[in-house]
Amino acid sequence: MGKGKLIKFAELEHNPIVFQKNPVLKGKWNSDFFKREAPIILELACGKGDYTLGMARLFPENNYIGMDIKGNRIWSAARLAAVHQLSNVAFIRDQIDKLDEYFRPGDIDEIWITFSDPFPRDGDAKRRLTHTKFLDVYRKVLKPGGLIHVKTDSDLLYQFTKEILTETPSEIIKDYPDVYAMGKNDELYGIQTYYEQMHLKDNRTIKYLCFRLK
Ligand SMILES: C[S@@+](CC[C@H](N)C(=O)[O-])C[C@H]1O[C@@H](n2cnc3c(N)ncnc32)[C@H](O)[C@@H]1O
Repeated sequence: MGKGKLIKFAELEHNPIVFQKNPVLKGKWNSDFFKREAPIILELACGKGDYTLGMARLFPENNYIGMDIKGNRIWSAARLAAVHQLSNVAFIRDQIDKLDEYFRPGDIDEIWITFSDPFPRDGDAKRRLTHTKFLDVYRKVLKPGGLIHVKTDSDLLYQFTKEILTETPSEIIKDYPDVYAMGKNDELYGIQTYYEQMHLKDNRTIKYLCFRLK
């Protein structure tokens, strides 16, 4: 591992807004960390936390938590949260299938999944974040009727998610096959993640689904 990464990982250990493989705040996020009662909105596969940070700035009345397994990306996200002096943001570094170790049933108001890896090989379908294996975990922590938002450039992930939803008790609320052609980006708060910007440079079509699990 490079020296830069080692320094970042050491800094992460002491960052008060980063929780690494340690679900100490289960059921206590609002009371012990955010110190106020407010809706908690999660961004999964948050990478450098662009959606988490963007939404936290736009909606200071909500509490936001980004989750990803990659330490260097979480380090970048936490640094920006400090630069912008955001007190309504935290980050979890862990595997997303461990979500129910961090939250009680009904703790989460909404989930955003932004540009998660499509894992194109059939044998890897279980790693896609909209596989039923993951939806079952999201159902455990979401409030009844809590919305899940998926933004992706991947046709495969978009179609896969729609197919999964036909087999899962759920309701699709919004389905935008081309966010920009439909003039819907402002509705999605105009936030573009690091990966979205790369995909737009490659002229890829950005898709969005909003659904709830039943
Ligand atoms: C393509 S990147 C997208 C990052 C960011 N959302 C963006 O749009 O810039 C996908 C991210 O998902 C994370 N990821 C994939 N599967 C994961 C899992 N099971 N648990 C935690 N993180 C995961 C990766 O570490 C990576 O940072």
